Amino acid sequence: MNHITLEQWLAGQNPALAATLGAIMQSCARISDAVALGALVDLHGSADASNTHGEVQKKLDLFADDCLARALAACDHVAAWASEEHDDPTISEDHGNQGEYLVLFDPLDGSSNIEANISVGTIFSVLAHPYRGTTPGDAGFLQPGRKQVAAGYVVYGPSTVLMLSCGQGVSAFTLDHRDGQWRQTRENVQISPQTREFAINSSNQRFWEKPVQRYVAECLAGEAGPRARDFNMRWVASMVAEVHRIFSRGGVFLYPRDTKEPRKAGRLRLMYEAAPMAFLIEQAGGAAVTGTQSLLDMIPDTLHQKVPVILGSREEVELIVRYHADPNENVSSQLFKTRSLFVQPHA
Ligand code: F6P
Ligand code: MN
Repeated sequence: MNHITLEQWLAGQNPALAATLGAIMQSCARISDAVALGALVDLHGSADASNTHGEVQKKLDLFADDCLARALAACDHVAAWASEEHDDPTISEDHGNQGEYLVLFDPLDGSSNIEANISVGTIFSVLAHPYRGTTPGDAGFLQPGRKQVAAGYVVYGPSTVLMLSCGQGVSAFTLDHRDGQWRQTRENVQISPQTREFAINSSNQRFWEKPVQRYVAECLAGEAGPRARDFNMRWVASMVAEVHRIFSRGGVFLYPRDTKEPRKAGRLRLMYEAAPMAFLIEQAGGAAVTGTQSLLDMIPDTLHQKVPVILGSREEVELIVRYHADPNENVSSQLFKTRSLFVQPHA
């Protein structure tokens, strides 16, 4: 493959969008260096502060947030941005009226894993500024995920890799640390429609709803159960790493609605975690749902809204959606008396 640079690839996009993505990616290259240096530059540990969700902020969370905010403030095309780390959006001092885009981001997803040296990442979403000529305010951001102009994430792992879509498929770019360039390493990435691998935090099992209980029980039953095949399970506790695994070998990721905190609809945030990931997954032929609804069709109520997330290999996600729709959902105990849900043993 000819490893064209991100700059060359962006030359094929609308120039304002190219400049906006260029600014985000320059910040991500700096964040990559900081993540790699970690304790050497005193960036490990807590910042002794918490965000709007009550989560402890790490020093690297704040470093990454600041890097992105500075780059977006300097970009002529960005009217405002919103981050997991701030209650309210920030309006650009210089471009709040005329900037074409709004940017949302989770500056450092999975940051509880930093000291354990497990992969973390940045997730971002780009929307059109719907009220150009005036500043956007909160309402300008509350657009369904399907309206994203671009979305992507960077995973800071053994390699630093960007997965990016501007609505025409998904491309991967690897950061070349020898010269600081992002180079394309995959194009038109597709997610296999079938899988034998699922990811869920099983410590929450007692809080799951019936469709998810049923789905996981059937996977765990393996070859002797209704799915008639063995499954593998993974849980990294870093969404970017889970989604990246799905982009490389398929799989399904679930952070479903549960009854642990009944007032919250889920664990993950719609606007800067679920929606950009759903956009990328659908662009690669996968599916992304709440269980009953497409994530990209959800109209957000608030900037920091939480949602249930089920995404990955299309056929597996469709099966989970059918379980949510099935009124006889609580039939797991009977299922194991027969070999298969779909094929009667003596038929
Ligand atoms: O940003 C939220 C997040 O850290 C995700 O990256 C990850 O998938 C999830 O939370 C981990 O949740 P838990 O702590 O329940 O394993
Ligand atoms: Mn996150």
